[in-house]
Amino acid sequence: MMNGIPQPAFYIFKCQQSAPPGMPKPSCVSQNDPESQQLFQHLAQSLMMKGIMGTVQPIQTGCLNRCQQGPVMLVEPGHTMYVGLTKEKIDRIIDEHIIGGNVVEEYVIPPEMWGEPVPPSQMAR
Ligand code: FES
Repeated sequence: MMNGIPQPAFYIFKCQQSAPPGMPKPSCVSQNDPESQQLFQHLAQSLMMKGIMGTVQPIQTGCLNRCQQGPVMLVEPGHTMYVGLTKEKIDRIIDEHIIGGNVVEEYVIPPEMWGEPVPPSQMAR
């Protein structure tokens, strides 16, 4: 018999960092790009409409250090970094990756911008 609340199958960390107006630095939420301001809400609404909110938990986060590729979001588990997001791309990611189980490779950050993770055991002192 299973007790308690089931853990989510996925967490989606959406970068919500926005540079102050007039800042040349790119950021995932931009004053000059209305769509970039609506992406988190779009993500949450789509999850709700598809009935998978709860087993998929969207989380607003700060800068994920890939600002040049923004807007970005990280899907866990899998450590999948999606870049250059639009509402349409988010819809495809939900349908194909989150529900379908297949990573949408064409929206994943290029390997040269991501690389292999460094195990903390190699860096710890
Ligand atoms: S502002 Fe989103 S990754 Fe830096």
